Amino acid sequence: MTILARLRDRAQRTLLGDLPDFAADPIGFVERRGIGAQAPVALRLGPKPAFLISHPAGFQRVLVENRDAYGKGAEQARLRPLFGDGMVTATGPRWEAARQAAKAAFSQSRLNHGLELALCVLAQQAGRLAQADGAEIDLHGLMGRLTMRMVVAALFHERLDNGASADAIYQAGCVAHRHLSLSMWRLVDLDLYLPTRQGRSFRAAIAEMERQIEGFAQAPKGFLAALHPLVAEYGPAVMRDEAITALVAGFETTATAGCWLAYALAQRPDLAAWLRQEVEERLPADGELRPGLLRDLPRTRALVQEVLRLYPSAWWFARTALADDVVSGVRIPKGASILLCPWALHRQPAQWDDPLAFNPGRFLEDGPSGKNGPDKFAYVPFGAGPRACIGAQLATAELTALAAMLVTTFDIEALSGPLAAQIPEGGVTLGAPRAGMRVRLSVRAPLRKVA
Ligand code: HEM
Repeated sequence: MTILARLRDRAQRTLLGDLPDFAADPIGFVERRGIGAQAPVALRLGPKPAFLISHPAGFQRVLVENRDAYGKGAEQARLRPLFGDGMVTATGPRWEAARQAAKAAFSQSRLNHGLELALCVLAQQAGRLAQADGAEIDLHGLMGRLTMRMVVAALFHERLDNGASADAIYQAGCVAHRHLSLSMWRLVDLDLYLPTRQGRSFRAAIAEMERQIEGFAQAPKGFLAALHPLVAEYGPAVMRDEAITALVAGFETTATAGCWLAYALAQRPDLAAWLRQEVEERLPADGELRPGLLRDLPRTRALVQEVLRLYPSAWWFARTALADDVVSGVRIPKGASILLCPWALHRQPAQWDDPLAFNPGRFLEDGPSGKNGPDKFAYVPFGAGPRACIGAQLATAELTALAAMLVTTFDIEALSGPLAAQIPEGGVTLGAPRAGMRVRLSVRAPLRKVA
């Protein structure tokens, strides 16, 4: 290294701290710094002090025990141009009102209706997929398009057609999500203020989502109907903000999990056969998946749990310390950024037997078979405490249905190498590997009737 390069490197480190290392290899960074840690690890991501938390007691302290000392901070503020004052970013009475209203949409009976519609979409899309029997497919694109349709059906009780509008909202979701991943760790997101190409496409993506949501809000159903009473107090933007929040929070997270789930099944025909036996034993005579059945598939649900352990779509999320605190003996100063990292937490050798092995069996009957059982806060794919994921039940049901459909309809062949060698991109959600994950889907059984 030349003297100039060394000086530049030192200046960059003084200004940016650990950010360049984190940005270059986010997954490797949190594994190196977080796995094995039993207390917060001090980092510097840009000018502010930051702490990486990857041990159960840390999650418990920040999300539950002393939660009032932590707020949604700068990282969440980065989501505001897209989410506005939606549930992920809002705080105080506005958040409480939305969370309370949304609860109605996620009650068992309302959720069941949305799920029924999502299952129809799944059956219809499985039929279309089967027409391309034997084709090579990139999982991330496939799962993104599928979960966008399922989430729209489940949340808004709307069916996207198979043409331009379905593709437009999917593409808009991808552009918006990509922009958040690219800009999350920049000191300033200049694309918001300058007429750059990336800024323009981000704004166009937001406009497209707003256009479609406006259409859904004309006659609000499901989630939007539950939120409608808030318009009187917070104005019409509440519908836009909450709908975009739920759509973006719900589609890419579920798509990412669907990708890893399908690739795990492709790599493990033994697991696919084990699930197939369970699903075929319980499917009714008409062969249709229904919401009630999804709760009666313990092996399939264990597969979903294991996918979300090793490949948690929300592989990190953030808080800012609003007051000084002490977490597992480490002093956290007011203003520090807290990076809570389920990716590293779910791989802690102190909590899990053979943590890197893909083994859904650990979630069956007696619960995860950790060393004397893992800590309650060792497994938090949906977060914990009052701000835990509101869509957890829906996402679990959708992924269970997806697994049941895949094992009963297709043989899946993995074309991108071993599961353990796949390194996710690690953006604002986990994502798939940059090079994609390719599979061949071959139809194995006569397709079920489509509603
Ligand atoms: C596999 C799929 C999913 C995963 C892994 C996931 C994960 C998470 C996590 C970890 C949080 C907590 C973040 C924090 O504490 O800062 C969260 C919050 C949230 N999720 Fe999900 N999520 C998924 C699917 C969904 C779906 C389908 C919806 C649709 C409604 C959704 C809507 C939300 C919302 C609105 C919040 C904010 C809740 C609040 O702050 O009150 N998520 N999610």
